[in-house]
Amino acid sequence: MRRAALLLLLLAGCEGARQDMYDQPRYKTYAASKLFEDGSSARPLPEGSVVHAQGAFAGTSSGQVGEAEVVQRQKAEAAQQMPYTVDMQLLKRGQDRYQIYCLPCHSPLGDGDGLVVRRGFPAPPSYHIDRLREAPDRHLYDVISHGYGIMYPYGDRVEPADRWAIVAYIRALQLSQHAPLDSVPADARAALAGAAR
Ligand code: HEC
Repeated sequence: MRRAALLLLLLAGCEGARQDMYDQPRYKTYAASKLFEDGSSARPLPEGSVVHAQGAFAGTSSGQVGEAEVVQRQKAEAAQQMPYTVDMQLLKRGQDRYQIYCLPCHSPLGDGDGLVVRRGFPAPPSYHIDRLREAPDRHLYDVISHGYGIMYPYGDRVEPADRWAIVAYIRALQLSQHAPLDSVPADARAALAGAAR
């Protein structure tokens, strides 16, 4: 009991110290000060410099996300359909994120037969059913952001841009199981017909 009281006292001390760090004495930029000969607390800007908030610490109060990133994120969140060019780089990123976050349930192929499901978790629908093949990109994006039925949301772990990358990858998975023959290059069709036999 005594120990608990001591711990409380110590913790209270910590909180006090933290407040002191927030409120410590500091100068506002160019406030009067004896620090430099010209009586200012900061150095004048070099001639020709342009004042502009940018880089890793601009734009947010927490200082953890840059202004440019905030704009990118808002754009990705507002997009109603795939906002990026689907190229190899985007697909690779989508594959990478898919393998981390989705594959354990949805399986490498997307047929809903992941290891977690084999251990007893309810099976998701296959991505290769007509309804999901025809579903708009934005539906897949929303499922990642907010979850769906018993599926947990991934919005707190998967950045908006990465959600779109995953959507692109799911589209590639769907195509891999349902491509019209005439979309295959002519010289590869014969091999395909051979494999199908
Ligand atoms: C823990 C297992 C699990 C993980 C991980 C998971 N899902 Fe699901 N997902 C499910 C289940 C179960 C359903 C079916 C939910 C229902 O209908 O109640 C589902 C449904 C879906 C659907 C179909 C929605 C519809 O319209 O029927 C999509 C698309 C989907 N998930 C995408 C994803 C993506 C993308 C990821 C990775 C970011 C992911 N899921 C991660 C279990 C999971």
